[in-house]
Amino acid sequence: MLSRQDNEMMCRTGPDTPMGAAMRRFWIPVLQLSEMPAAGADPRPLQVMGENFLAWRDQQGRAGLFAEACLHRGASMALARVEDDGLRCVYHGWKFGVDGTVLDTPNVADPRFKERIKGRTYPVREAGGFLWAYLGPRGEEPEFPRLPFMDVPQAHRINTYAVVNCNYVQVIEGLVDSSHLTVLHASGLSKTNGVELDFAKNVSHMQFDASPAIEADETDFGFHYVAMRQMGDKRMARIASFIAPCFVANPNGDLWFAVVPVNDERCNFFHVWWNAKKEIGLEPMRTQQLAFVGLDEPTLAKYGMTRDTCDSDLAPSWKNGYRQDKAQQRAGHFTGYDSFTQEDAACSISSGGIRDRSQELLSTADVAISRLYRTLLACAKAAREGRQIPGLKADVGGVVGVSAPIALDQDWRTLVPQHKIVSGARAAEHRQ
Ligand code: FES
Ligand SMILES: [Fe+2]
Repeated sequence: MLSRQDNEMMCRTGPDTPMGAAMRRFWIPVLQLSEMPAAGADPRPLQVMGENFLAWRDQQGRAGLFAEACLHRGASMALARVEDDGLRCVYHGWKFGVDGTVLDTPNVADPRFKERIKGRTYPVREAGGFLWAYLGPRGEEPEFPRLPFMDVPQAHRINTYAVVNCNYVQVIEGLVDSSHLTVLHASGLSKTNGVELDFAKNVSHMQFDASPAIEADETDFGFHYVAMRQMGDKRMARIASFIAPCFVANPNGDLWFAVVPVNDERCNFFHVWWNAKKEIGLEPMRTQQLAFVGLDEPTLAKYGMTRDTCDSDLAPSWKNGYRQDKAQQRAGHFTGYDSFTQEDAACSISSGGIRDRSQELLSTADVAISRLYRTLLACAKAAREGRQIPGLKADVGGVVGVSAPIALDQDWRTLVPQHKIVSGARAAEHRQ
């Protein structure tokens, strides 16, 4: 449970908010590279944390991210003329390169004027199938993170994303909430038996214990938590890591998420799977994997979860009963949804555009949820007070999610010895 005030502070990420300021201090994925314009093609409009941008590649193939509003008097750069080395605003002809260099200001007589100003562009990187951007104060970008999926060739990776019409925190909650898997996804999990897909094999055991023991530790990168389920004379430990400000390494070990606010009531839910040995990014493996969890293009479009459909009536909302199929539910399916992704989205969206956390009752199953609140609020408060943002300086290259059987007396933390635990008594214990 949170006060209304803290809830607002945690959820709102617009340019003048504490959480927005915290998030803008990190490198975040803003677009899938598959959606990035080709060299010299029209710029692509996108929204991140309530602000409008344009992604573009100049004729030399250099990627850039522009604020939509022209530096001069704010006309949309979406209207701009595409020229070889820059975008030229159609209003008065100011022209900007991808690195912010002002190349021309034809309505100003002084030819040196343009040398004294800088265009509204942001540092970007292309890695792991995403365009990453740093949207914070100029010159203060942190080191670019080196994540495990960035080192595999494209054919060994699946990048995809769903557009979810609710606040980003609700989607992250679903990723650090092991107990819902056994219940909400019961029908999907029951279909995993014998399925020859890595994802199915990794999650199949979760059908059997709906009340896992949950423990969480604060770490230098955010927090990690475990869900332990009984399995004969052993326990199955599933450890997920939350990496500030909006990333989660899934316990399956081959799946990583970024939940990036589009605005306060919509987010892009980026997924990336990777496999050093298999070419999972090629067909038919790619579509098999995506279809199993409801992330294939036809299913996402059917539920209004793509960029082109998220404003349509197909998107789950109060008006359309969140697109649930009640007849299918009555006929025996637990939820009446096609797959995991739609079940998660329905629960997240149906709790409100920005869920009111002053009206909830957390239990022992929600240890990681309250840890998430604390971590995000710590980031927001640090930004508000001008202190170092938790997680900003952490080396996240070795941060993982893990799933493995452990003996009843084994400490689950031995599965992630590289994670730096920083919270109180547990940290002391662990360091001994
Ligand atoms: S508003 Fe863009 S050049 Fe004037
Ligand atoms: Fe889920």
